[in-house]
Formats: sequence, C-alpha cells, structure tokens
Amino acid sequence: MKKSNLLLALAATGLLAGLIACKKETKTETIYVDNTPPPPPPTLYTRLGGVSAITLVVDKFINNCATNAFIGARFAPAAANPDRLQVLRFNLIDQICAGSGGPCQYKGRTMVQSHTGMNITNPEFDTLVVQLVKAMTTYSVPTKEQNDLAAILLPMRTDIVGK
Ligand code: HEM
Repeated sequence: MKKSNLLLALAATGLLAGLIACKKETKTETIYVDNTPPPPPPTLYTRLGGVSAITLVVDKFINNCATNAFIGARFAPAAANPDRLQVLRFNLIDQICAGSGGPCQYKGRTMVQSHTGMNITNPEFDTLVVQLVKAMTTYSVPTKEQNDLAAILLPMRTDIVGK
C-alpha cells in the first residue's frame, strides 16, 4: 500500500472509531410522565371525622338546643319522647352525613314539611345555628369545617323560617 493510501485508510478508521465513540456517548434520556390523576380532595364528611364524629356533634347540638333558653321549648316534645328524639337524632345525622358527601341517605321529611306550622323566626334560626357551632367547637371541629357545614345548612333558612 502506498504511504498516502495508508494514511487515508488510517484517517478513515480513526474517523469511524471517533464516530462510534460519539455514538456510544449519546445518552438517551427517558422521561417518565405520571398520568395518574391526583387523588380527589377529601370530602367535608371525611374532614369532619365521619359518622362517629357527626353523631357526637349532633347529640351535643340537640342537647344545646333543648336546654337553650330561647329555643328550648321548641324541642320539649321531642326531648320528652325517646322515640321521637331518636327520629330527630337519626335524621339530623343522616342529613349532615349526606350533605357533607358521606355515604348516608336522608330519609326524613323535607325541611318545609317538618317545620311547617311552627312559624320559626329568623332569630330562632340563628340561635339554632349558634348551638350547632357550639357543638362543633366542643369537639374541636376546625373553623374551616365549621364554615363549610354552616354553608350547607344556612340556605335551608328559606324552607324553615316563617312556615
Ligand atoms: C338549618 C337548620 C335546621 C335543620 C337542618 C333542621 C333539621 C331538622 C330535621 C332533619 C328534622 C326532622 C325531620 C323529620 O322528622 O323528618 C327537624 C325537625 C324539627 N326541627 Fe328542625 N332544622 C333546622 C332548623 C330548626 C329551627 C330553627 C328550629 C326551631 C328553633 C327547629 C325545630 C325543629 C323541631 C321542633 C322539629 C321537630 C322535632 C320533633 O319531632 O318534635 N328546626 N329539623
């Protein structure tokens, strides 16, 4: 082989080797995309602590209402009748459980049906809501959850007051 051809061959081999080296060094980066949707935020029901926590709050709430100087008399018939009290208790638990996104189903009468003929006033309604807030505070329900539950119940005012 002529000297010039030898040099050419060596140069070509070197170039090839360099290309192979370059190719070897090329890194492929795999990007893993997590397509899993984020978990849904916990329901108010969960944040309240589920049906056991709701039951504690409802029992305290009923007691607060029945012993309140302004609205207590409204609840005297129920307080004096264990069966009637249980109906009110279970319906309130189901109502709050279902309304906050829990697995319960409210089976009681509508708010209009159950309060018609009582002529409940706005101050009485506000007093009842305060009794619920007090009950939640007793069981250390955080302010955010208190407000979230109040936001569910407050719109019921128009179905309850003045009927
Ligand atoms: C957001 C407010 C309120 C809610 C969520 C609520 C909820 C309920 C529920 C679930 C019942 C039972 C319904 C049934 O038996 O089928 C009930 C009954 C009753 N509610 Fe209300 N209520 C509210 C406001 C008030 C107010 C302001 C008063 C009076 C101050 C009141 C007095 C009563 C009474 C006396 C009964 C019947 C209890 C009995 O059997 O003697 N409620 N309410």
